[in-house]
Amino acid sequence: MGLLRLERGAKVVMFAGKGGVGKTTLSATTALHFAKKGYKTLILTSDPAPSLSDIFECDVGDRITEVTDNLYALELSTEEVLRRWKEKFGGEVYEVLSSLVPVQEEIIDYIGSAPGIDEEFMLDYIAELAREEEYDRIVWDTAPAGHTLRLLKMPIIFIEHLDEAAKVYLRLYSAMLKIRETLGLRKPRREIFDIISGWRKLSEELLEFLRLPQVEVIPVGIPQGLSVSQLRRFMQELKNFKIEVNKIVMNNVVKNHECEFHRRVAEMQQRYLKELREAYPEVELVEVPLLSHEIKGLESIRGMEDLLFG
Ligand SMILES: Nc1ncnc2c1ncn2[C@@H]1O[C@H](COP(=O)(O)OP(=O)(O)O)[C@@H](O)[C@H]1O
Ligand SMILES: [Mg+2]
Repeated sequence: MGLLRLERGAKVVMFAGKGGVGKTTLSATTALHFAKKGYKTLILTSDPAPSLSDIFECDVGDRITEVTDNLYALELSTEEVLRRWKEKFGGEVYEVLSSLVPVQEEIIDYIGSAPGIDEEFMLDYIAELAREEEYDRIVWDTAPAGHTLRLLKMPIIFIEHLDEAAKVYLRLYSAMLKIRETLGLRKPRREIFDIISGWRKLSEELLEFLRLPQVEVIPVGIPQGLSVSQLRRFMQELKNFKIEVNKIVMNNVVKNHECEFHRRVAEMQQRYLKELREAYPEVELVEVPLLSHEIKGLESIRGMEDLLFG
């Protein structure tokens, strides 16, 4: 299923960063911009506290909903992600486990709720959407940074785990084969190792997916100490995974400073912006001004779109 054949698939843009820095706002603005340019666009969020319904002022939820011309939105709940995961992988997981130990089918629910499964699956889901070519553009409003970092690490943790697990399975397996009949365990339809190496391959493909040129990871932050430190850690993580960053968005930049208070804030912000420019000279630093009103509803997002892309 070569993900590398995505050349013809959708372009994916994902916004990542701490809570409250403007991921949803920027995702909505970018998605609306793509839609306006005539690209069929899907905006989706994996934030456990989704806010697409709020920003677009319409009911989004678990099903793909049309928001305006060319623009579709989806809020994937954890339950829905788990349901889809079970549908796709549940059978295999049960097959592998039940050939090793006597377990009930409920074990799948338990494994499906393990930390990280939903994130890895989310990535798989988005990679599949991108490949399907139903949408020209996919904008991904990710969960707050901690989650996203874990998401990026998942394929690696998974691979490392499989290496360890494979050794254990290997030892167990020959012994198991002998006693399987006696215990009356299920005989897997496929060799366990085929299934496991399939998972491993999937993990590797997901990491490859994130490295594709048409998949763009855009870190978002605000020019303040905590946000900047977090952003720098995130940049390092991405570098470790060999995921290239072309753009960083710095939101809430104070532009008009007529009073002393705002002059000081602006001064502080400029120090952090300078620090970032020096740390990442090859990355484009996009500054988004702090507005005096919130961005909510299509009209307001259109205004932001004008400001950023006009
Ligand atoms: N440039 C901006 N100027 C003014 N308010 C903003 C700006 N960007 C975002 N906001 C507001 O800040 C709040 C948090 O933004 P949001 O996009 O929901 O952040 P996140 O999705 O990262 O948690 C929202 O109320 C939003 O309207
Ligand atoms: Mg949000």
